[in-house]
Amino acid sequence: MPMSTRHRLQCAWSLGLLLVGGVAAQALGAGTSREDCEKSYKPSTGQPGKDVVWVPTNDPLVTRMLEMAQVGKGDLVYDLGAGDGKIAIAAAKQFGARAVGVEYNPEMAQCLVRAEGVDDKVKVIQGDIFETDFSAANVVTLYLLPELNLKLRPTILKMKPGTRVVSHSFLMDDWRPDESSVSSDGSAYLWIVPADVSGKWTFKQQRGNDSFDVNLVQTFQKLSGKVGKGSDDITNAEVRGNQVEMMFSEGDVHTRLKGELKGNRIEAQVTRNDATATYVGTRS
Ligand SMILES: C[S@@+](CC[C@H](N)C(=O)[O-])C[C@H]1O[C@@H](n2cnc3c(N)ncnc32)[C@H](O)[C@@H]1O
Repeated sequence: MPMSTRHRLQCAWSLGLLLVGGVAAQALGAGTSREDCEKSYKPSTGQPGKDVVWVPTNDPLVTRMLEMAQVGKGDLVYDLGAGDGKIAIAAAKQFGARAVGVEYNPEMAQCLVRAEGVDDKVKVIQGDIFETDFSAANVVTLYLLPELNLKLRPTILKMKPGTRVVSHSFLMDDWRPDESSVSSDGSAYLWIVPADVSGKWTFKQQRGNDSFDVNLVQTFQKLSGKVGKGSDDITNAEVRGNQVEMMFSEGDVHTRLKGELKGNRIEAQVTRNDATATYVGTRS
């Protein structure tokens, strides 16, 4: 059975338990233990959600996803469709980050956040992931469905360049991941939100007279395009967050550019044959 179908079918019978648990758990307050939460909510794999059922990510994969995103103390992680809150809790407990879980049925996760003693760092909010503003995040985690990832994609692409997005199992259609990690625990995919660097750029040597034009065509993180007025193609060209890289050859002059978008300039180290110099690119 295809993964997404199985994922959808894995549930549908335990909403009652969730609702009963929800009422019981109103009473759970300070001093609540994980066992108290689990007794009250009795969550079960396949429990109905709004657009996708609850199926938890296994522990080793939670760790791997957060490692792939290089989560650390300064990060704000949003888990969209937080389930029992385990990714948000792990982001705080194992990686020292702050985290927000957005969940249609948030009671279980809210209880576990209290039980795990991370309520200073983790918040679980009741909400619809398609209506909640998660633009403050610099890490987004997903375990949804391919079509839900695709529906979120335009919003994700408008996030701050460099935002890391990790998805358990599911891809983003033709936006290829920057990294993939597949093992017996399951698969995880990482995307780095790319800055928009499309257009015509003129790079000028900062201390010297050399300059060149590059016309960049961008498809997600991949760049293609031509150099100068000629027909030379750029190769090995991509953008990762604000970092830009490309190579091209004009006759026997081979150029490698590594730069960073800062505002509307690209500050770059450009190596032409064996000499490296600083260039500044401006877009026209
Ligand atoms: C497959 S589970 C993943 C849980 C958790 N992120 C994990 O990896 O363990 C998906 C969760 O998304 C929630 N969900 C589904 N549609 C949603 C929506 N539109 N807004 C908020 N939560 C939603 C479900 O209730 C379910 O808990």
